[in-house]
Amino acid sequence: MSITVPYVPSPPEVVEKMLEIAKVTPDDVVYDLGCGDGRLLITAIKKFGARKAVGYEIRKDLYEDLIRKIEREGLSSRIIVYNEDLLNADLSEATVVTLFLTTSANEKIKPKLEAELKPGARIVSHEFTFKDWVPQKVETLSWHKIYLYVFPDCSNCRKR
Ligand SMILES: C[S@@+](CC[C@H](N)C(=O)[O-])C[C@H]1O[C@@H](n2cnc3c(N)ncnc32)[C@H](O)[C@@H]1O
Repeated sequence: MSITVPYVPSPPEVVEKMLEIAKVTPDDVVYDLGCGDGRLLITAIKKFGARKAVGYEIRKDLYEDLIRKIEREGLSSRIIVYNEDLLNADLSEATVVTLFLTTSANEKIKPKLEAELKPGARIVSHEFTFKDWVPQKVETLSWHKIYLYVFPDCSNCRKR
């Protein structure tokens, strides 16, 4: 049941577009599940003024580099990173979840999103869709696709 996805960073313009279409504001708590070098977390805080950003990263080397970067940039009070499997994440305070995984990984995490996210939470996925969910928005940036899903009502998402 575990998720294995290699490290491929989202290009900076994709990172910005993901946070832009999620309409991230200072009220938001942004989770990046499989956060790599932390670019989504850092951009969410520095450019979009998110209240807090939380990342899960399974690779210890990426996690350790990111912790050093967060300390260097003085962001330790606003960014929390766990060197843990993203399936262990507690998503109850997330208002925005960003993902760049795979279609099968999205299916594995879907029940967790449905169980833990609050109504109104936004999910932004770089490149990969969720089967049976209808995105509210699809953005194309050169050859990249970004999908925005909003949770006005999870059961609606399941029915459509
Ligand atoms: C395609 S990269 C995306 C990185 C970043 N989110 C971005 O968009 O630039 C996927 C990341 O997920 C991490 N990852 C893969 N499986 C994971 C798991 N089960 N739990 C936590 N992180 C995982 C990988 O190590 C990698 O850094």
